[in-house]
Amino acid sequence: MAAWERYDFAETTSTNDEVKKLCEMAQSGKNFMVTASRQTAGRGRRGRSWISMDGNLFVSFGVEVEARALGQITFVIGLSLLETIRYFAPKIDVCLKWPNDVLVNSSKISGILLERAAENYLVVGVGVNVAAAPQGEGINYGVTSLKEAGITTDKESFLQVFAKVFAERLSELKTQGFAHIREIWLNNAKNLGGKITVNMEHESKEGQFLGIDENGALLLERDGKTEKIYAGDIFYLEEK
Ligand code: BTN
Repeated sequence: MAAWERYDFAETTSTNDEVKKLCEMAQSGKNFMVTASRQTAGRGRRGRSWISMDGNLFVSFGVEVEARALGQITFVIGLSLLETIRYFAPKIDVCLKWPNDVLVNSSKISGILLERAAENYLVVGVGVNVAAAPQGEGINYGVTSLKEAGITTDKESFLQVFAKVFAERLSELKTQGFAHIREIWLNNAKNLGGKITVNMEHESKEGQFLGIDENGALLLERDGKTEKIYAGDIFYLEEK
């Protein structure tokens, strides 16, 4: 994979916006990485905002992906984040939560937002709570930061490792396929086989978390049947 072409901003609306502009002008074969110290309109999943706190990492990647791999990238990036955290703290309690959260000590430490850019480019936006965890209105889950978890690194050192791991795992996706990534992801998934509730836009479903399919859809067993869920937020009931 070609190296990341890096751009760094003191302030921007959202690093995803900057990457989109780059991808729209880009010729094939480039991979972009955009960072900013501050975002004035950071976006989260499902229309939420992402609060900009000093010292945290805001980075977006512009990657060329085949249409069939779109749903798979989220697992590649989540896994890369987990591995980067383990690089800095090998013994830490870190795991993955479908579809794209990384939990440290059972609390959310990062966020991933995927958006389409021009043609075959995908924008992968990642926020990591390096120095501080946003608290407050609208946040209905536990949050933490690397600092709170006792990991003393800074956003640039974290990014250097993370960008390298992400590039390696992306290459593996291309050469070895998604089954390989899915297996490692599942080995690190929280509460695999346990009971969960999935909150979707208009309904919520309770069942057993069986895994993910070949495109990353969640497999939920309910009344002896396996259902596929494509978008939602998981809540853990009984822990396995
Ligand atoms: C989530 O809701 O969990 C996803 C949050 C994604 C935040 C990152 S920060 C860098 C990039 N720019 C944005 O506006 N959002 C993503």
